[in-house]
Amino acid sequence: MFRIGIGFDLHRLEEGKKLIIGGVIIPYEKGFIAHSDGDILFHSITDALLGAVGYGDIGELFPDNDNRWKDADSSTFLKEAKRIVDSLGYEIVNIDSVIILQKPKIKPYRELIRENTAKVLEIEKSKVFIKGKTYEKIGDLGKGLAGECRTVALLKRKDV
Ligand code: CDP
Ligand code: ZN
Repeated sequence: MFRIGIGFDLHRLEEGKKLIIGGVIIPYEKGFIAHSDGDILFHSITDALLGAVGYGDIGELFPDNDNRWKDADSSTFLKEAKRIVDSLGYEIVNIDSVIILQKPKIKPYRELIRENTAKVLEIEKSKVFIKGKTYEKIGDLGKGLAGECRTVALLKRKDV
């Protein structure tokens, strides 16, 4: 009746790039480097959803050597993962994510990010939670060289 999935993503941060998390542009001097828009939250939720139904992963479905996904808006990946979940007969119970970022603070943008993520997934905002956490200045994450996101997603069969 239930299926659970885990997702992880990390991208390097570079000066002069737009910082996009959960489809929300966050004012900061650095942003993620990636083939797509580098949205670590959307990438990690996409993998958690695909993993929960055992349908492969983001790199298989949207290869980064495919020019269709160059600078892609990552909501496309998330929408497709939701469509797959739905077509296999599952609905989202809840999603919970940790965004590991030395800077900036995520908390002021939490509600905006939750709202936007819920909108993309066409689910209630109460089913999506996110929080930021630093890496206590340790290692590359702690030096602000990269940002990471970890997600768990719980699904439930729609017919029970
Ligand atoms: O206090 P502790 O060392 O456990 O955690 P921290 O990494 O210093 O973060 C403290 C709090 O700041 C977190 O619990 C979040 O509420 C917030 N935070 C955030 O909103 N965005 C970040 N990028 C990092 C932390
Ligand atoms: Zn990514």
